[in-house]
Amino acid sequence: MEFKQERQTFWVSNSSKKIKISVLTPEIIRIFEDHGETGNSYAIEGNKEIKTKVEVEQSKKQIIIRTAALHLKVDEDLHIDVFNEKDQPLIQDYLGKRIPLDREINSEQKKLAEEEGHQIASDQKGSQILVIKKLAQDEQFYGLGDKTGFLNKRGYEYDNWNTDNPEPHVESFTKLYKSIPFLIGMKNGLPYGLFFDNSYKSHFDLGKENSNYYFYSAVQGNLDYYVIGGKDLKEVVSNYTYLTGRVPLPQKWTLGYQQSRWSYSVSQKEVQQIADKLRENDLPCDVIHLDIDYMDGYRAFTWRKDNYQDPKKFVQKMRKEGFRIMPIIDPGVKLDKNYPIYQEGIKKGYFVKNPDGSVYVNKVWPGDAVYPDFGRKEVRDWWAKNVKYLVDIGTCGVWNDMNEPASFNGALPDDIAFSDGKQRSTHAKMHNVYGHNMDKATYEGLKKYSGKRPYVITRAAYAGTQKYSTVWTGDNQSLWGHLQMLIPQMCNLGMSGFAFAGTDIGGFGADTTSELLIRWLEAAIFSPLLRNHASVGTRAQEPWSFGQPTLEIYRKYLKLRYHLISYLYDNFYQETKTGLPIMRPLVLNFPKDRKVRTLNDEFMVGDDLLVAPVVTEGQTERAVYLPKGDWLDFWTGSEYAGNTSILVKAGLDKLPLFIEKNTILPWDESSNHIDPKKNDVITFRLFGDHGNYIHYQDDGEDFAYQNGQFNLYKITISQKNTVELTNFGYNCPYKKVVLLSENGRQEFIFDQRDKIYKLA
Ligand code: GLC
Repeated sequence: MEFKQERQTFWVSNSSKKIKISVLTPEIIRIFEDHGETGNSYAIEGNKEIKTKVEVEQSKKQIIIRTAALHLKVDEDLHIDVFNEKDQPLIQDYLGKRIPLDREINSEQKKLAEEEGHQIASDQKGSQILVIKKLAQDEQFYGLGDKTGFLNKRGYEYDNWNTDNPEPHVESFTKLYKSIPFLIGMKNGLPYGLFFDNSYKSHFDLGKENSNYYFYSAVQGNLDYYVIGGKDLKEVVSNYTYLTGRVPLPQKWTLGYQQSRWSYSVSQKEVQQIADKLRENDLPCDVIHLDIDYMDGYRAFTWRKDNYQDPKKFVQKMRKEGFRIMPIIDPGVKLDKNYPIYQEGIKKGYFVKNPDGSVYVNKVWPGDAVYPDFGRKEVRDWWAKNVKYLVDIGTCGVWNDMNEPASFNGALPDDIAFSDGKQRSTHAKMHNVYGHNMDKATYEGLKKYSGKRPYVITRAAYAGTQKYSTVWTGDNQSLWGHLQMLIPQMCNLGMSGFAFAGTDIGGFGADTTSELLIRWLEAAIFSPLLRNHASVGTRAQEPWSFGQPTLEIYRKYLKLRYHLISYLYDNFYQETKTGLPIMRPLVLNFPKDRKVRTLNDEFMVGDDLLVAPVVTEGQTERAVYLPKGDWLDFWTGSEYAGNTSILVKAGLDKLPLFIEKNTILPWDESSNHIDPKKNDVITFRLFGDHGNYIHYQDDGEDFAYQNGQFNLYKITISQKNTVELTNFGYNCPYKKVVLLSENGRQEFIFDQRDKIYKLA
C-alpha cells in the first residue's frame, strides 16, 4: 500500500487502485477515485476546504486519518471505515459481495410482463460505480430529497434520474423530479451523512436487497463522495448545507398564500376574477400564478395578445390590489422559424444537438421544441437576459417547470450532445443538472434585472439547487395517500437542504373533496411555499369552491399563517446561518428519542411548534406523540408533559398544534397581503410564563441586509420584561413593540435619541 500526503490531502494506492482523500473540514472528508470523468461539481461551488488539524497514523496494514470529529481507516485493499471521534463506527465498507434479489423471472416472462405495462426492477448489475456499506440492525436513513414513501428510507430502493411521471406517486415509485444523492444515516443512534456527487443516473438500495448492507451505484462517472459527521443530526445537515449551499433569505412576501390553477391565465379577465374573489371572501393572498396559457402559443418569454390588453399595466394593477404575478416558464423552445428566441438560439448554436450535429427536436407544450444547452455559461447568460422581459413587465419571479427535461416524444437518448461547461458532454451526464442550470440562469437574470432577492420555483433539481430556487413536489394528486406523503416528503427535502418547499395544496391531478382540501391546507399551513394548484380538467378547488363551512375554515388557517409570517421569516434568517429547515421531522430536534425515528405523521416548525395534522378521511381525533418537554395546546392553552402520546379531538376545523411551554412568537397583525414596508409595530406573544426570542427585521426584499442593513431584537419576558435592539443596521426600527403575556399587554416605544425601547 502506498501513501502520499500533501497538507490535508492524501493519496492511498495499492496494485489495483488509487484513492484520494481530502479533508475539507473536521467534519467533511471527500473520497475520490478517478474513473476518467472530467468537469466540475454542480452541487458545490467555490473552495470549501478550511485549514484543519489532521493526525495520521500509518502501519503496514492500515492508515488512520484523524480529525477532531472523524477517524477514517483505510486497509490494504483500500476499504474505508469511518468512525466518530469516540471511535464508534459510522460508515464501514461491506466486505462481501452483493447478492441481487432473486425475482424469479426469466427473460421471456419479463418481456410478457412488460408488454402489459408492468415494470420489472433492474438489478443494477451494469453499473460502473458501486459502493457497498455495512448495515446495522439499528440504522435509519433520511434525506434523498423528494423521494416518495416514508420518513425512514430503510428497506427501499431509489433512482436518481429526474423524471416527470404523472401517475400517482406512491412508495413503489423509485424516482421523481429531483436528484439529491444525499443520504443521512443514524447508526445505533449516531448520525452521519454521505453525499455522492455524480450527476449520472444512480441508485440507492437501502437494505432492501439485503439487511446486512446498503449500496450506492452509478452507471458512469467518478466515484466521488463526501462523508459528513456532526455531533447530532442538526450538525450533519448544517455541514452538508455548508458544502452545497443554503437557501438564501427570501423576499418576505414569498411566505404568503399563493393561488394557482392551470389555467386562469388564459385571460386577464379570469385572473382578475380570481383576485376579486380572494378579496371579496377576505382571504389573504400575495401571489397569483400564471400557468402556460398566458404565453403566445406556449412560446417562452412571450405574452398572448388576444386576452391581455397590456400585460405590464395589468401586472401593475394587480400589484396595487396587493397581488404579485408569478409566470411559468418551460425550457422547451418552440420550433418556429418566426420566433425570435428560436431564431437567436439557432443562430448562436445554443440548443442541444444530435450526435450528427443537427439540432435535437422533441415535443413539449408548444409542439416540436428544442432544448437550450444550459450547461454552457453563454447559454445561461442568454436565458438570464430573456428573463428581463418578465422583469420589465413587473412579474414577481419565475416558476420553472418541465425542466427534468420533460419530453412527450419519448425520452431523450443518452448520447444527445449537451455541454458540461466548455466541454462536450452527453444527456446521460447533464440530465440531472438540467433543471439546476436553468434555475441558476433564472436566478441570475432576476437578480441582475430586478435587484431583488430572486423568487424562482422549480420542479427539477440537483443537490445544491437550493441556492437558486424554491421547489414544489410536482404533480401530486387529490389522494389521501398524497396528503399523508406530504409530511415525510417535505421533511426529507428539508433535511436535504431544501428548506423552501411546498406541495400543490388540494392535490394537482384528480378531483379533491371539501374534506381533503381542508385537511391538506391544515397539514401544509407551515410549509414555506403555500400554494393551492390544480390541473385543467379537475374540479375547482379554490377556497370558495365548496361553499361554507369549507371557506370559513380555509380563511381561519390563512389568517393563522399571516399571523406567523414574521415567525417563518425569522426561521429563514436562522436557516441562512445553520441550513436547518423550517418544517422538520421530530427526529431532527429529538434524535435520542427512538419513538420519533420513524414517525411519519407529525412534524415540527423550527424548534417551537409541533404539528400533528389529521391525514385520514373521516377521522376526528388522533393520537399525538409529544416528545420530552412541556407542551401547550395552541388553541386551548392546556398543558401536557411530554414523552407520551395523548388523544386529541380534531374536528374538521382543528389542526392539532402544540407549542413548547415558555416560547415567544412574533404575532403579525391581520392583513390581506404582506407589505414589507409596514414596519411600525410588532407584537410578541408569550406561551407560558417566561421566554426569550431573537427577531430579525430588514426591508424584506433586496440585498441591503448583506451590508448590515438589518436589525436584531432580543425579547425577554420574565419578571423584568425587556426589548433589546442587539444589532442596529436597518434604519427603520419598529416604533412600537407590544408584548402579550398572561400578565396582560405591555407596550415599548422606540426612543430615537438613545436607540432603545422604553416601556410606554
Ligand atoms: C406540469 C406542471 C404543472 C403545470 C402543468 C402545465 O404538469 O407540473 O404544475 O400546471 O405542467 O403547465
